[in-house]
Amino acid sequence: MIPWQSAEFDEHEQVCCFVEPRAGLRAIVAIHSTALGPAAGGTRFRSYARDRDALDDALRLSRAMSYKCALAGVPLGGGKAVILGDPMRLKNRALLQAYGHFLNRVGGQFCTGEDVGFSLADCEVVREVSPYIVGTTSAGAGDPARYTAQGVFYGLRAVLEHGFQVSDYQGVHFSIQGLGSVGWRLCGLLHEAGARLTVTDLDGDIASRASRRFGATIVAPDLIHRTRADVFVPCALGGVINRNTIDAIQVRAIAGAANNQLASTEIGETLRQRHILYAPDFVINAGGVIGATEELSRIPGRVFGGPLAPLDDRLRGIYSRLREIFARAEASQSTPEATALHMACELIGR
Ligand code: NAI
Repeated sequence: MIPWQSAEFDEHEQVCCFVEPRAGLRAIVAIHSTALGPAAGGTRFRSYARDRDALDDALRLSRAMSYKCALAGVPLGGGKAVILGDPMRLKNRALLQAYGHFLNRVGGQFCTGEDVGFSLADCEVVREVSPYIVGTTSAGAGDPARYTAQGVFYGLRAVLEHGFQVSDYQGVHFSIQGLGSVGWRLCGLLHEAGARLTVTDLDGDIASRASRRFGATIVAPDLIHRTRADVFVPCALGGVINRNTIDAIQVRAIAGAANNQLASTEIGETLRQRHILYAPDFVINAGGVIGATEELSRIPGRVFGGPLAPLDDRLRGIYSRLREIFARAEASQSTPEATALHMACELIGR
């Protein structure tokens, strides 16, 4: 399939495919836009039912990275890589190094890091042969989840100010779905700030630990979206706000780290009509890419516009950006998500 035949193509600047039969490697790098800087995006390693699904995934995710980077104010464009196949079966040192050589051929236009099926330890192996990889435990910022959690925490303040007319977290009730790398850290930040927490996770042990550590109330995974709270914070999976869950939701705002929380654009409109404030996921969860920017700026051959502002200031930018999006959305009577997409397209000149 030729990339521009995909419904996800959207004028991608470049799409590269790579096959290394001896290592069993088949990979795609999609570069959506370099208008604001060299493209960045994680590497996803997974099986796809059809090769065209892998291509669609790479194109869709790289476009999303363009929007995320633009709204995060980082001097980066959008890209994404996928390695096709079952990582449990295929992944080994030879394959990872072959992938590193592929990245070298794509050159400085694209730089990558961890994602589903592709860990920090894998980044380390690729790093042995390629400079175009970040998030390694030895050389770089390490686990991006701590920046993501911090960014969500700052973003939640914008939600509280706009939706609740309060500026601190004291006594606000958050229902948190998923206590993994991001959700757990976020619980810690909210607990310290005096918030009230209701939590869930598929792993009951983690939920029990959260109850002891943060005084959180635990609910079953299938009840979290029904919890009567102030803000629902999805930090587990995408698509959690859908036709089956929306009628049971009893919060005034939804804002969390999970990617693609809304099952469809129409769901966003339904939230708006029900006066439930929604923080677009690709804006509030940009902390990871903001945290990686320093390391990205050190890659040879990269020209960044000037020195970067201190990291914490840049993470706080998520707060300001959300305030701007909520105000514009309200003024134009559109959803925050549609408003954010419109702003991102303006920023990258599309
Ligand atoms: P993680 O894999 O460390 O944690 C996810 C947690 O959710 C796990 O503890 C899992 O048991 C739990 N979970 C899964 N399904 C569940 C369900 N149905 N109900 C309750 N709990 C469930 O993932 P991480 O890194 O914390 O990321 C969370 C979300 O945020 C993901 O959607 C991820 O794509 C997104 N995200 C993460 C970033 C990062 O820096 N880690 C950056 C941007 C987005």
